[in-house]
Amino acid sequence: MTAAAIEALARSQLGEESLRRIVFSEAMIEARVAEMGRQIGDAYPPDAEVLILGLLKGSFIFIADLVRRIPRPIQVDFIRVSSYGTGTVSSGEVQLLYDPRADLQDRSVILVEDIVDSGTTMNHLIPLLLDRNPASLEVCTLLHKRRAQLRLEPRWVGFDAPDEFVVGYGLGYGEDFRHLPCIGSI
Ligand code: IMP
Ligand code: MG
Repeated sequence: MTAAAIEALARSQLGEESLRRIVFSEAMIEARVAEMGRQIGDAYPPDAEVLILGLLKGSFIFIADLVRRIPRPIQVDFIRVSSYGTGTVSSGEVQLLYDPRADLQDRSVILVEDIVDSGTTMNHLIPLLLDRNPASLEVCTLLHKRRAQLRLEPRWVGFDAPDEFVVGYGLGYGEDFRHLPCIGSI
């Protein structure tokens, strides 16, 4: 799809007045995710047991694209928390909704996030995951609003995000707009 076609699709999905602008195009995201995959692949010794732990639901498209760009053996699992409910401002409460309790012991774990905003989610999850004794724990996030005091700074960041509510490429407003191929602000 051309950039213009994607923008037209996003506008038709979001409504003419509610889409402020396309922030990251499909091509920008694709190039950056490929780069991040290579960097992650290079970051671990060959014998490390790398587990990608995807934080649902916002990162589902990012994870799917990212793992296919990591040129080394990895395993993939998911965890799900909820902090937003249906609004655009964090409720400040983090609920663990799905936790497969994948064995993290002695594994090199990468927690994959869609976006770090207030940091509430990360700061809640990091100690909980460290308690499970991984060999190492790193965070990889597609977007970072850079306004949080974090217990652990993400090692891999796709893009710095504007202080706007963004949707698409997995990120939703409520449950809408997750399927947009680009990221726009509303
Ligand atoms: P935090 O706990 O405030 O850092 O926010 C974490 C979660 O809220 C992210 O993982 C997203 O799922 C969601 N979130 C934060 N900002 C946005 C946004 O601009 N668009 C969509 N979801 C967001
Ligand atoms: Mg998220």
